Amino acid sequence: MGKKVTVVGAGFYGSTTAQRLAEYDVFDTVVITDIVEGKPAGLALDLNQSRAVEGFETKVVGVTTGPNGEGYEAIEGSDVVVITAGLPRKPGMSRMDLLETNAKIVRQVSENVAKYAPNAVVIVVSNPLDEMTALAQLATQFPHQRVLGQAGMLDTARFTNFVAEALGVPVKSVKTLTLGSHGDTMVPVPSKSTVGGKPLREVMPAEQIEDLVVRTRNGGAEVVALLKTGSAYYAPSAAAARMARAVAEDSGEVMPVCAWVDGEYGISGVYLGVEAEIGATGVKRVVETDLDADERASLNAAAEAVRAKQADVANM
Ligand code: LAC
Repeated sequence: MGKKVTVVGAGFYGSTTAQRLAEYDVFDTVVITDIVEGKPAGLALDLNQSRAVEGFETKVVGVTTGPNGEGYEAIEGSDVVVITAGLPRKPGMSRMDLLETNAKIVRQVSENVAKYAPNAVVIVVSNPLDEMTALAQLATQFPHQRVLGQAGMLDTARFTNFVAEALGVPVKSVKTLTLGSHGDTMVPVPSKSTVGGKPLREVMPAEQIEDLVVRTRNGGAEVVALLKTGSAYYAPSAAAARMARAVAEDSGEVMPVCAWVDGEYGISGVYLGVEAEIGATGVKRVVETDLDADERASLNAAAEAVRAKQADVANM
């Protein structure tokens, strides 16, 4: 059977994710939904008209959904659902400022996903990311492994880009890692970062690494400050689409994602940015890596910070 993926939310993040998924040409159907009348249908029509030029067969379907779940029958049979619904930040806002507004939206979407696509793997990208991922699991009541969030892929991509630019080397030669939260307690991991196979710490001075760590942690805010309306979407959608593809193809790729942690790193019962093997069932396995003492302490601090906030969303 051909694969079907749904993207909920037809803003820039959702529409660019749908475009990337369609252009992979590995899905039968990409569904894009939004509450705005006509917008998803218009985007779908436009994307389908690009098929002859880009050379993909995937069919894009756009559906406007109503306040009582009207339209959600279009997502039936989805293997993967990417939830992008919610408001983006404005300049000066932290992701956490979106908590209450986006909790209402993500809860309602998640309930409809549970009803109409009960076997889907859910990838959450709405902010604040770690909390919205926890909320989507609560609202769907799906097994934790089937609900995950996109953040680490994006944060890692930013860190990698900054390192490659600073050293003037191809991005391909750089490998970095970020763990923790998609927020103030993000944990970029220089000890696991390499350039052409050499440890980052051997090719870049400590102060410069620290500058890039800080820039990575503020990577989203830097884009928001420049755009002034809305937040980043090219790098975020690239990351989310790769995750959805790994699920659809049951690839087993190891990616940094927001996943339910159950004993790894001595941490339990919280959604946290970690590396995980991704496949048809969602998170197949959280992959633990050696961290130095500072990084381990930062990861523990991130876990406790997001644990408190994730407890709050149960009542939102
Ligand atoms: C960012 C938003 C999407 O980091 O969280 O750009």
